[in-house]
Amino acid sequence: MNVYVQNPDHAGSTSCDTTVIFSYQDSNNKSFSLTKSAKDIDVLHDSLPSTIAKKQHFQAFSGKTVICHTRKQSLSVHTIIVVGLGKKDKITARNLIESVGAGIKLAKSMKSTSIALCAGGIVCNGLSDVEIVTRIVDACHLATYEYHGEKIPEDANTIEHIDIYVEGYNRDEMKSACDTAQLVSRAVLTARDLVNTPSSVATPRFLSQLARSYAQDNHHISCRVFGEKEMKKKSMNALLSIAKGSDEEPQFIELRYTPARTAKKTLCFVGKGVTFDSGGLSLKPGQGMETMKRDMAGAATVLALFSILEYLKPDVSVVGLICAVENMPSGKAVKPGDIVKASNGKSIEIINTDAEGRVILSDALSYAGMYVKPDVIIDIATLTGACMVALGEDVAGLFSNADSLSSQLLAAAQVTGELLWRMPLVESYKELIESPVADVRNLGKTRYAGAITAALFLETFVPENTDWAHVDIAGPAWAEKDSSTTPVGGTGYGIRTLIEYLRSYNRTAS
Ligand code: BES
Ligand code: MN
Ligand code: ZN
Repeated sequence: MNVYVQNPDHAGSTSCDTTVIFSYQDSNNKSFSLTKSAKDIDVLHDSLPSTIAKKQHFQAFSGKTVICHTRKQSLSVHTIIVVGLGKKDKITARNLIESVGAGIKLAKSMKSTSIALCAGGIVCNGLSDVEIVTRIVDACHLATYEYHGEKIPEDANTIEHIDIYVEGYNRDEMKSACDTAQLVSRAVLTARDLVNTPSSVATPRFLSQLARSYAQDNHHISCRVFGEKEMKKKSMNALLSIAKGSDEEPQFIELRYTPARTAKKTLCFVGKGVTFDSGGLSLKPGQGMETMKRDMAGAATVLALFSILEYLKPDVSVVGLICAVENMPSGKAVKPGDIVKASNGKSIEIINTDAEGRVILSDALSYAGMYVKPDVIIDIATLTGACMVALGEDVAGLFSNADSLSSQLLAAAQVTGELLWRMPLVESYKELIESPVADVRNLGKTRYAGAITAALFLETFVPENTDWAHVDIAGPAWAEKDSSTTPVGGTGYGIRTLIEYLRSYNRTAS
């Protein structure tokens, strides 16, 4: 499927079979107002769309829709979908994506093959017109995504293209924003596919092969993969200990993007790639365990990023580190009470083998400190159920030792509409991860603040004088139910925000 920006003067004479128009809920809550370009379409169709909407007592709240079939000029049926955006002064990037997604999803369910989306007059709090188009393109791709697995689709997506009719369609920056947004959205869908792929297929080796293919296809990207032998040489015994229970060989993946111009700064993204998290000997309950193929969503995010880095051409060096491993119980598995040593020499008392994410990430953070020495480290991980208890399914937790990095990430999330909330690294809780027999234990001593103690554990391994952020995506990496922007399964959360962050960092750092 392709998305284009088009001349708004031609929206009325579109050859698309469906037209999507937008409206605001009025502040009195009693009526709605069509956007300027929606009014033009309405007039062309003898006010049929607005009349039907009024008759149905349409409320233009975000994501609400009305369908209207018309027959104009030609004999073929034309569908017009009126979509609510909510109150004009309250529209966020997230509302916008959800509203556009609702319209597109409805058109998709009606077997539309081409959509004219009338975007003229859409406003969004704090977003420029270019950013608004970017969000609309995101929504088009997010809303049409499907994952079929091994089932032959009965009801596959029929949409071939979407034309966004918008003022400024002929400006270079508008066209390039549309192209870039498509690239980024497709990377999000790549990550969704990776998360949705069963763990019998998406093994650690599968992920390392994919990483290698990115290096092969892109001149500025290189890739190194450590198997068990190389990891032993590097004393990555924390990562190795989690891999012991599995027949799948663990893979430590290092991707490097080196820009054409010499870079002043290096960013490092670290992804948790537990291809299946059974809990290990601290086995998880059976219910819902099938969704633990999601536990490599952080790795999928980093891979998705590298799949498009060369097109984005930032002037900063970017290093991706992925710990790909399966967490399984067996006679060889790591046991509660074991003490393992990460490659930076720090020892870890394993209390619970299901708190495996922080253990494997300790070796990646140590590696970053010893061999990458980046200016900024951002790790992204489906780390704790406790973060879901705190923030729910839609919001990721952000932990950081640097206020500036934190605000930059929050600002990026604001623009992309991904929900992110900063959590505290409570100094006094460090006591909860102290061990009498090792430098740190992998489980908090109480059942409280599980997301924070996990983050504090990670902080122990962050190299000195390095800005670091940890994004806990246990909730938003996976959708439990269908929505206008994602079906059940992997969501690809985080990619759009990290890319937005990377692009703004690039603007200021180079
Ligand atoms: N991968 C899980 C966290 C998780 C849970 C992600 C639910 C997505 C959905 C992590 O490895 C884990 O098992 N965490 C445990 C930690 C506990 C043993 C301290 C948890 O959250 O229950
Ligand atoms: Mn676990
Ligand atoms: Zn896990």
